[in-house]
Amino acid sequence: MTTTDSRLSLVQRPRRLRRTDALRRMSRETVLTPSDLIQPFFIVEGRGQRQAISSMPGQFRLSVDVLVEEVKSLRALGVPGIALFPKVDDALKTVGGDEAWNDNNLVSRAIKTLKDACPEVMIIGDVALDPYTTTGQDGLMHDVAWPGTGAMSAEIVNDATVAALVKQALSEARAGVDIIAPSDMMDGRIGALRQALDDAGFERVCLLSYAAKYASGFYGPFRDALDSAPRGGLDKKTYQMNPANRQEALREVRLDLEQGADMVMVKPALPYLDVVMAVKQAVDVPVAAYHVSGEYAMLKAAAGHGWLDGDRCMMEAVLSIKRAGADVILTYAARELAQKL
Ligand code: PBG
Repeated sequence: MTTTDSRLSLVQRPRRLRRTDALRRMSRETVLTPSDLIQPFFIVEGRGQRQAISSMPGQFRLSVDVLVEEVKSLRALGVPGIALFPKVDDALKTVGGDEAWNDNNLVSRAIKTLKDACPEVMIIGDVALDPYTTTGQDGLMHDVAWPGTGAMSAEIVNDATVAALVKQALSEARAGVDIIAPSDMMDGRIGALRQALDDAGFERVCLLSYAAKYASGFYGPFRDALDSAPRGGLDKKTYQMNPANRQEALREVRLDLEQGADMVMVKPALPYLDVVMAVKQAVDVPVAAYHVSGEYAMLKAAAGHGWLDGDRCMMEAVLSIKRAGADVILTYAARELAQKL
């Protein structure tokens, strides 16, 4: 049988556009660029510190002096911004997390030093109490009575936490942060933060809301890095979202936009690409997605065993997050990807 005999009479042959590299490039729908990426950093006290994090190969806890050099070279690669997460000394942790709004804390010093050394870098400051609380919770834990009965229960209280988050955000704003990103999932914090920032003259500071943040197992390595895992058997399910829900993500996003969020985030990213896409379709603000520590760790672990081509899979994973609708991607792989792009 000749080729002619077996030829199908097809009008549409999608493979025509895949035949050469030039055709494939011409017909590609999504292009990842370093400008899409944000590099999260873990910071520690001291000088010359570059502490490896065993569950996150290639990531380190950096002291501020080392951070400055890292940030300069990242900027040279075209990555526009960074997010900071502090490893707080145990001695500074309290039930109330008061170190979070100490104007001379590690985060504030890092922001000021970076803004001096590298004024054009965009800095995203985290707002949540977990690095600072002895409970490891993002909010304040109080014994609360049920009105009318004597029954007491330990709860992460909402409104008192929001007041604390406002103090933390104002402290970061005074240090010079560009974007405040509350990752705590308390109700009403976006409105309270916008109001407080505006009242203090910080109307130029952006709010990037972790609007749809799930109670995820994929945060494990991050909690190793900061030693911030919740203690005493309590999890975060009373404030972070149920992984089973997508409709609720749209509600959270709507509420945060009504309260003045400039951008909204979905977190984690890869297990929630349907949520990223639904949010992108529902809003007219930039959508961020956080490719979290566990997503990074999985790829690094498999690559470390030689089971996957790590570079190729990392690129594919982050490209997929963009394809799903993310305009901004927080990823620990920002540097390595920018080097290849
Ligand atoms: C806590 C916070 C977490 C992450 C960012 N901010 C962990 C948590 O909610 O327990 C996780 C990020 C990651 O895993 O990379 N406010």
